[in-house]
Formats: sequence, C-alpha cells, structure tokens
Amino acid sequence: MARQSLQIVLAERPTRDIIPGQTFRQKVVEAPTKADLKDGELLVESIYLSLDPAMRGWLNDRRSYLPPVQIGEVMRGAAILRVIASKSSKANAGEFVTGFMGFQEVAILHETLIEDSFPLPPNAKLTDLIGVLGMTGMTAYFGMTTIGEPKAGETVVVSAAAGATGSVAAQIAKICGARVVGTAGSDEKCRWLKEELGLDVALNYKDPDFKQKFHEATPNYIDVFWDNGKGFLVGGEQLELALGRANKFARFVMCGGISQYNQEVMQGPKTFLSVVSMRIKMQGFIVFDFAKDYPQARRQIAQWLAEGKMKRKETIIKGGLGVSESALAHLFKGGNTGKLIVEVKNPEDSSKL
Ligand SMILES: NC(=O)c1ccc[n+]([C@@H]2O[C@H](COP(=O)([O-])OP(=O)(O)OC[C@H]3O[C@@H](n4cnc5c(N)ncnc54)[C@H](OP(=O)(O)O)[C@@H]3O)[C@@H](O)[C@H]2O)c1
Repeated sequence: MARQSLQIVLAERPTRDIIPGQTFRQKVVEAPTKADLKDGELLVESIYLSLDPAMRGWLNDRRSYLPPVQIGEVMRGAAILRVIASKSSKANAGEFVTGFMGFQEVAILHETLIEDSFPLPPNAKLTDLIGVLGMTGMTAYFGMTTIGEPKAGETVVVSAAAGATGSVAAQIAKICGARVVGTAGSDEKCRWLKEELGLDVALNYKDPDFKQKFHEATPNYIDVFWDNGKGFLVGGEQLELALGRANKFARFVMCGGISQYNQEVMQGPKTFLSVVSMRIKMQGFIVFDFAKDYPQARRQIAQWLAEGKMKRKETIIKGGLGVSESALAHLFKGGNTGKLIVEVKNPEDSSKL
C-alpha cells in the first residue's frame, strides 16, 4: 500500500491567537515516491520541525519580508529532514539536511529549498541543526555581533532570555564580557538563566516588583537592549522600560515582537523620545540577510559549544506532526525553555518508501 503523508494546511487566517483545530486543517495525501523525482530534486521526510514565533506573522495577509501563507497551502516551516532518495548533488539518501519543507511528513523538494549541508561538529546533536547551529543561533549571533556589539563591562539586557534566540544572544553577550540581565516568564526559567547560563541577573517579568527590580538591575543604565518584543504584560512594557533606562549611544537590537503577533492593534512605547535624547541606535534585522556568512557563525558557535562557553536547551514535543498545531499555540503561552521543536518522526526509526 502506498505510504500516506500528513499535511497541516492553513484553513483560516487567525485574527488573534492560533486556534488548534480551527486555524489549520489536517489533510492526508498519498506520499510521493522516488519514481516521481526529477533532476535536482530530493525525496525527504520530516524528522524535527522547528516552531518559530514568526509563523504567526506568516498567517497575516500583509506585506512583510516573506509572502503570507495562502489559505489551503501547507504551513511554512523549517525542519530537519532525512533524504529518502536524491537526484541532486546536494545530499544523498540517508543523510540529514535542513530545509523549508513546511508542516508535512513526506515531500519532494527542489535542491534550492535545501540548505547547504555542513558536518555536525563532534559535540553537537542533530537538533542543533535547527537550534543553536540553525536559524535560531544565526539570529542571535548576527543580531548581537553586528547590531548590539557589546563591549566588556557594558550592561546588556535581553528580553525573552530563556527562549531559543534570547538564550543564545545572552550567552554571546556574556562571552563578549558584558554584564547581562535577562528577563523571562517564570522563576524556573530565571533559575536556568542564572545557574546554568551564568547570567548576572535574571528577572521574572510576572513579579509584581518587576519594574523596580528592572531599575535596580541596571544601575549604570543599558548599553544594549535585545528586544524580543515583550509587551504590555504584568510589570509593564519592557521596551518602554528599557528606553527609559538607556545609556547614551545605546544599541537596541529589534529582533521580534512576540507579544504583538496575536494582537489586532499594535502598541508602542511611551518613552520613545529617549531615542533622540540618548542618541540610541535602534535597528531591526532579518536573519536571512546574513545567509552568506552562516558558515563562519556556525564555526564560531561550534567552538563555543566545544569550549563549554555556550549551552542550549530544547523543549521537544513528541507525538508526530499531528500535535504541531497545539505545540505552536503553546509557544505563545511561554511553554518552552530554549528551542521549541516537534519530533515528527524518531530519527532512529528507519524509513520505508
Ligand atoms: N529577526 C529575525 O530574523 C528573527 C529570527 C528568529 C526569531 N525572531 C524573533 O525572536 C523572538 C524570539 O523567538 P524565538 O524563536 O527565540 O522564540 P522563543 O523566545 O523561544 O519563544 C517565545 C517565548 O516568548 C515568550 N512569549 C510567548 N508569547 C508571548 C506573549 N504573547 N507575550 C510575551 N511573551 C511571550 C515566552 O517566554 P517567557 O515565558 O519568558 O515569556 C516564550 O517562551 C520572536 O519575537 C521572534 O519573532 C526574529
């Protein structure tokens, strides 16, 4: 019997939160086989699916850095894939690669959708390909080193510091010799930041005294603020607080806006004019802009991993592709520490097709 492949397709555009079972529809199709392969194509199966806050933005029908996912289309997403058969020089059957396969179990991809493979460093694990050595790590590396540029002794504040990108960005700032303050949504996340990652201060933004503690944690003001977009939650808006505590010539790395992604009306900081009075450089970026320099960043991060200067954590949700909708909603509830991943298929299980 032909193998079947589950696909998660967009059913309707959410106005606020993603609603599992409503935003997406699960569709079972007959899987392609190697007989369907053309030159330059690979038959791949998904092993680990990366879940990213940006996915919420891809569901909105508005101009952005990527076109919106269309109704009825397979949801976009990066994944670690196993090559089942190949008519491409990019990878051979049995190899693991990464690529934008989307939320589906088996597919034929053109080689242009597959990332150039690189040998996994000796102390790295497979999931690092979408974590610290993948888009997450690349975002942290280029945002921190090219925009933040922390110097020894400076104060760096990282919001959503226990998340995938924030945890790597905070450690890079530590490696640069900065004093690093991280914010996160639970005491447990804060403990991990202090005890495992060695941050100088970790603040739970749900603490009723957060605003006061934020002030106390930045006695010399803030030189670099890493904005993952922590919005109007308990304790105040973090960008607003950070602008109010900015040093002269501070750098604000505008990485994302997670608290705003599910809002119909976006909100902004009241302290915005600090940009002028404190001569702040505030810059957004999209990681893809740095694609040609990924190999150099990967070498550096691999070295930090080997030296024990860089640690990472993952939250891996098992249960196959069918749980990806609820896992994605979980991301917006702060359910993850480090990188959030769905195990689509156990990499130890062999593939028959
Ligand atoms: N510019 C780029 O190229 C680029 C690339 C990758 C990611 N990003 C951005 O970087 C940010 C972090 O992404 P990530 O992949 O590393 O995800 P992540 O931080 O691992 O996961 C999201 C975390 O954000 C917090 N959060 C979730 N929903 C929230 C809400 N509604 N309001 C406030 N906080 C919320 C939670 O942490 P707490 O429990 O601590 O609240 C959650 O664990 C996102 O804004 C993302 O869009 C940008």
